[in-house]
Amino acid sequence: MSQLITTPPTVEAGTTGTSYIGKPTNRVDGPAKVTGAAKYSAEFKVPGMLYGYVVNSTITKGRITKIHSEPVLALPGVVQIFSHENVPSLAWFDRNYKDDVAPGGSPFRPLHDDKIMFNMQPVAVVIAETFELARYGASLLQIDYEEEKFETNIELRRDEGFEPGRGKTGWMPPPSPRGNPNDALKNATHRIEGEYMHGTQHHNPMEMFGTTVEYHPDGKITAYDKTQGVYNVQQYITKIFGLSKDEARVINLYMGGGFGSGLRPQYTVFLAVLAALELKRSVRVTLTRQQMFSFGHRPHTLQYVKMGTNPDGTLAALQHHALHETSKFEDYTENVVNWSGMLYQCDNVKLGYQIAKLDVFTPQDMRAPGAATGSFALEVAMDEMAYEAGLDPLDFRIRNYAERDQNLKRPFSSKKLRECYHQGAARFGWDKRTAEPRSMREGNMLIGWGMAGGVWDASMQKVSAKATLTADGKLTVASATGDIGTGTYTIMTQIAAETLGLPLEAVTFKLGDTDLPESPVEGGSWTAASVGTAVQKVCTSIGEKLLKLAQKMEGHPLKGADIDDVEFANGQIRLREKPEESVVIRDVLQASGEEKLEATSNSGPDMIKQLPYSLHSHNAVFVEVKVDEDLGTVHVTRVVNAVAAGRILNTKTARSQVLGSVVWGISMAMMEETVMDHNLGRYMNHNYAEYHIPVNADIHDIDVIFVEEEDDKVNPLGVKGIGEVGLLGVAAAITNAVYHATGKRVRELPIYMDKLL
Ligand code: MOS
Repeated sequence: MSQLITTPPTVEAGTTGTSYIGKPTNRVDGPAKVTGAAKYSAEFKVPGMLYGYVVNSTITKGRITKIHSEPVLALPGVVQIFSHENVPSLAWFDRNYKDDVAPGGSPFRPLHDDKIMFNMQPVAVVIAETFELARYGASLLQIDYEEEKFETNIELRRDEGFEPGRGKTGWMPPPSPRGNPNDALKNATHRIEGEYMHGTQHHNPMEMFGTTVEYHPDGKITAYDKTQGVYNVQQYITKIFGLSKDEARVINLYMGGGFGSGLRPQYTVFLAVLAALELKRSVRVTLTRQQMFSFGHRPHTLQYVKMGTNPDGTLAALQHHALHETSKFEDYTENVVNWSGMLYQCDNVKLGYQIAKLDVFTPQDMRAPGAATGSFALEVAMDEMAYEAGLDPLDFRIRNYAERDQNLKRPFSSKKLRECYHQGAARFGWDKRTAEPRSMREGNMLIGWGMAGGVWDASMQKVSAKATLTADGKLTVASATGDIGTGTYTIMTQIAAETLGLPLEAVTFKLGDTDLPESPVEGGSWTAASVGTAVQKVCTSIGEKLLKLAQKMEGHPLKGADIDDVEFANGQIRLREKPEESVVIRDVLQASGEEKLEATSNSGPDMIKQLPYSLHSHNAVFVEVKVDEDLGTVHVTRVVNAVAAGRILNTKTARSQVLGSVVWGISMAMMEETVMDHNLGRYMNHNYAEYHIPVNADIHDIDVIFVEEEDDKVNPLGVKGIGEVGLLGVAAAITNAVYHATGKRVRELPIYMDKLL
């Protein structure tokens, strides 16, 4: 008898040797990444490939009057310069095209005409035989401009904010006011109000944007592109260049960080495809770190919060208004204030949301878009309110705990935020906190303890998947989602292996290729739930086929058993009630004579099950800061982040997600800001020397708690997603800790030391 599993694995009580879901499994793509075998988009080397270097505008608004191409084209090895002057008619076939995650308006069209709409706009690409030559050519390229007046300062556009229309997937206008928010505020026992602000932050994942386009002899192309959605990019290419789907394959197997920067097709893919099609050559276009500041930012946002409490410390009224920038050509939107209507119980609420047009590039989703911003203002205001009402900040939140989602007027499918508060506080030692600011110290270090939290959507998208089980017992599952560093490869492998009771090593998960079944962009924290459900479903289909084949075997013990009567474990199909009655999966395959079993699946949210509920994940963050009393330097010495996000598929990769969130929260609170010179309309610190992010020395203790949360409504796996929720409240908790340490209430991020002196 052949055995799929020869050495029985160590088995925990209540599990099997092939129980993988929830385990801290190492990344299955780890070895490929650390040995360099994993190839990123700009690492694909194609024979005869040309290199493109982008030239960005030096003015903010106006038009190009002349491009002095001749001296550059005269350089031996420079092949072409593409600009609006010679951009071929083949581009922009479909004028109405919008990508899957585009907001309202019309998307930016590189090299479309002589107009300059924002600083660092890509205006030309120099194509040469080597990267160095392309870069040299770009440095020589002179461009004459005619400048126009522009406005880049949101502070001067406060009166021109407007409420955007619908447009972007997932964006919801704030709910209508409820109760009597004005009267209730007026009659409140205690009141606070304040304006909260954070500046622009730019996407800076480790891997910079780049596209390698392989031009095939038959005129088809393969684009290796850094993107969070290969299908989204394929649609972009086919619509813009008038290609059919089989003429444009898009691949992205590994990604050095996404965070939302790759949700929309970037201009490198446009430029590389354009050049490849025109020159009938393979072309690679990459961006430098400085050019990463030419697109994709979290918008500069101004928020106003008013709050009042009743004598018993319950919230009497809450008003939250946000205004942020967008470009002149697109109405970028994110849910900033909506969360404030659902995180706490309050019957008198008014939420407002506006955007204002500036001469900047369209902002872009950045990890927990809107909620990272909104939770900063709300949660600092909650801290102010707690002090005003004479309550402990944690106690104040628990008093105002929302048992129902008051925005949607629905119960939560599950909500373990209270447990996040209690477990987080216990781990942190919150009960040892003395309330008075400046009351805790160690030598000349003022110690501050602060807390905050947040709420994020548990959403789900439609996904297709395919599975193939071959006679040797190897399973391949595929869906064209992405792994932006989050662990998709690993968790999907775990789900597939457990569903069919196979060892992890027998399973391969494939993603990031438009030759695979369709999946949406990887974002919104929906991948684990959406793709996971598809993987589970397609593997269950294989299981059904296996069961039927097993029931054709001579002397099998599974007579009359239905798929629900059996389980797949340790390489066997066995009866749930009598697990000793089993057949070995590989024997089933061999006896059947089939070379392979195949199945495909389409899945999406179960609307009937979900509709009565509000589906959300939550977190609570506790922070310690130490502030040097003489110098005003702040160290974030301890963070406990307690997260309730349904079932955790892999405690190791999920923990890494939350660790990353905390690091970014520290960065958001203390360091990151792209500073605009409004006289020039240009970001001045567009480099890593002056755009500050934390280094190892800035990061101390981070403790992650996953609160147990069962949910049979969100999806069959009970998964809510972990990518964004961990960032919520981190910046607010740090800001609140800084207040507790110093008595200084900061309402503007980042908290540079001058704000504490
Ligand atoms: Mo996330 S901002 O949806 O990649």
